[in-house]
Amino acid sequence: MELRPGGSLISPRGRVYLLGERLGDGSFGDVFDAVGPFDQRCAVKVFRPRLHQAAVREQWLKEASRLYQLRHPHIVYVYDYFEVAGLFFLVMERCDHTLEVMLSAPFTDRLVIEIMRQLLFAAQYLSDNEVLHNDIHAGNVLVVQGQNLIAKLSDLGIAQDLSGRPSVRPEMVQHRIMAPELVRGGYSTKQSDLYQLGLLMYHMHTAESAIDTSGGYDAMIEQIHEGVPRARAEALRTPLGEIIAVMLRRHEQYRFASPAQVWEELRRLQSWTEEHEPEVLSRNTAPLPPVATDDPDAAPDTIRDINRGDRRTIPVPPPLGPGGTKLQ
Ligand SMILES: Nc1ncnc2c1ncn2[C@@H]1O[C@H](COP(=O)(O)OP(=O)(O)OP(=O)(O)O)[C@@H](O)[C@H]1O
Ligand SMILES: [Mg+2]
Repeated sequence: MELRPGGSLISPRGRVYLLGERLGDGSFGDVFDAVGPFDQRCAVKVFRPRLHQAAVREQWLKEASRLYQLRHPHIVYVYDYFEVAGLFFLVMERCDHTLEVMLSAPFTDRLVIEIMRQLLFAAQYLSDNEVLHNDIHAGNVLVVQGQNLIAKLSDLGIAQDLSGRPSVRPEMVQHRIMAPELVRGGYSTKQSDLYQLGLLMYHMHTAESAIDTSGGYDAMIEQIHEGVPRARAEALRTPLGEIIAVMLRRHEQYRFASPAQVWEELRRLQSWTEEHEPEVLSRNTAPLPPVATDDPDAAPDTIRDINRGDRRTIPVPPPLGPGGTKLQ
């Protein structure tokens, strides 16, 4: 079956998709711009099995069914998925471009926080559903431009279900976004997704990668082992850099406990509160009760410090022993 711009694709239900330009290509096949049966703009991802039909089918089915179940405003929306003539299709909402094309200059703090707000919202939803994304990077964040910029996590092709386990052994990895626990022990946890989000946030904040990939694989592994990304984030000496440094800690138990916890830190930064404080305050319409002077709760507010991931040990399941033999 030949797929080309200008051609059409008919699903087993008889829905017609008119194919437009090629938006991207990957190991699996291509992504086309398309117009769907309701004249909706969409993107059609085709999985083209070259050798291993069954394996590609399984990967397609996993990604499609996961996206179908995980409906969230910041996860790309799937309209349909079907098989035609031995090819597998995934029809998604059409986004304008990836976040990657925006990374040539540093973002304002306000924009970093806004995009992180959306991605952390999606990451918390995945975490609540016991799913590890495993592949969070700018090429897998799609952007819809409008009055406000909307970011959407996409490409759940190598995502994994934790199914009650604290960690899993990924089947495929992207070297440039490997978390230290993956390099050290061959496993990923929910904190590994936070590490990848930290790398992405560093990139938005500085327009540079926290890991220098120019020296090849071994040099990259050494940087990960030695905690270079975290040190780089700390050296920025910026409020965002401080938070990124916690997300990039080598030991996952010292990172933030959850995406929601990262957001709690971000929303307190001046570049966010400046604009949002009046809104937040106006939500609290009930007058606060007066505080007695001998009330221990009247002590100086230390909540912020207590909650800081970098000031306390966050309980996460202990890493597996050498060889990671318990992993599946
Ligand atoms: N819904 C969409 N709207 C617009 N463009 C999209 C959409 N989905 C994918 N693309 C484009 O196609 C590219 C590849 O898609 P995707 O990330 O899902 O596949 P992949 O298997 O990761 O491919 P690769 O190996 O190139 O990363 C994206 O980087 C993006 O440029
Ligand atoms: Mg991708």
